[in-house]
Amino acid sequence: MANVDSDDNMFEAFSRNPQAVYRQMRETMPAVTLIEGPMGPMGIVPHRRDIEEALRHPEVFASFEAVDLQNVRPLIPLSVDPPDHKKYRKILDPLFAPRVMMGLEPSIASLANDLMDAFEGSDEIDFSTAFSVPLPSQVFLTLLGLPLGELPAFLAMKDGIIRPNHVVGCPAGQPEAVDHQKKTAESIYEYFESLLDERSIKPQDDLITRFLRTEIDGEKLTREEILDISFLFLIAGLDTVTASLDCMFAFLAGSPEHRRQIVENPSVIPAAVEELLRWETPVVAVVRVTARETELGGCPVPAGHAMSLMLGSANTDDSEFGDGDVVRFDREPNRHMAFGGGVHRCLGSHLARQELRVALREWHKRYPDYAIKPGVELSFTEGIRSVDHFPMVLGGLVADPT
Ligand code: HEM
Repeated sequence: MANVDSDDNMFEAFSRNPQAVYRQMRETMPAVTLIEGPMGPMGIVPHRRDIEEALRHPEVFASFEAVDLQNVRPLIPLSVDPPDHKKYRKILDPLFAPRVMMGLEPSIASLANDLMDAFEGSDEIDFSTAFSVPLPSQVFLTLLGLPLGELPAFLAMKDGIIRPNHVVGCPAGQPEAVDHQKKTAESIYEYFESLLDERSIKPQDDLITRFLRTEIDGEKLTREEILDISFLFLIAGLDTVTASLDCMFAFLAGSPEHRRQIVENPSVIPAAVEELLRWETPVVAVVRVTARETELGGCPVPAGHAMSLMLGSANTDDSEFGDGDVVRFDREPNRHMAFGGGVHRCLGSHLARQELRVALREWHKRYPDYAIKPGVELSFTEGIRSVDHFPMVLGGLVADPT
């Protein structure tokens, strides 16, 4: 294994142009490179073949304890390894199947349009606060049968658990940040405990009620399991879609030609979503911990070692995409790994796709022309690539929304 120091400049270069950093990693790094990351030693894996190999072997590259968010209970199903993992996916997959998610189309469209109504007539907005942050959380509130007035509480829980350092204003891993994360974790368990109490007494047509009722092969989820799944959803289902919207709109704002294709031919949107997921890879990497001493791509790896599998690099690897540095909406096939791979491949991919497709469609009907505010350089967060401040100018011909 090679050793490199973690480097602030590397993070800055990465925020601006991750694809170039991925290329450099693939060209200069072996299969596994050891770095001293903010959370301790970490093996970086940049090549697609090695990433696929690791994801195919969860018995060696395990998920158990790969993610620590001060959750006192397991993140179901993310931190559960096979064979137990299978039971959860068997119960959960049908609830998030493409056909079920299609049914959400009208409510997602309506939520997106309500958000756009709120800035109708403005020629400048902050895209994050006005659109990319509230939309996924509102979709989730709708799924849970909760009023939209719960949005601030939801956002506080989400931010407190995912980026506590931003909330308290200190570097990641500092005691104040960890303390805030712990308190937020407790408040999330309490929030969902009381929601479960309510739905157990008074069932509704919503996700929690479906969790309580669903039974597959005689198996039902226990109350604790539902709590653990709900906790994970808050982490996995909100920021990821926000980040995808940020990445996609930042790209499209800077590329009038790609935007034109979407405006002139909205039927290209599903393919555009896939290609932008590939190119931008909003979830940069997934983490695994070696269950025993092993090797990957010829590099020895000790037991108990955290490994960062760089999905963004896999998504631009020449071995899979001959012209991976070109963004084209007619790419076919497009075997991107933005939703991960192997047994833990994203449970919410159909929901995410639905949200992204509808958002792109409704937005471009009303705002075919927009740009990042001149003079602003967007700064993407690490890990999950969202943008905290996204000043956007709206301009040009605004099409009739009907
Ligand atoms: C574009 C948006 C999204 C992206 C890019 C994304 C990405 C990912 C990735 C890369 C993984 C694999 C994690 C790993 O292997 O360690 C994952 C897993 C997961 N995602 Fe998503 N996700 C998105 C949206 C969502 C949504 C909306 C939900 C809500 C239901 C969701 C729920 C989950 C769950 C529950 C898992 C764990 C699955 C398992 O362990 O079996 N995701 N996601």
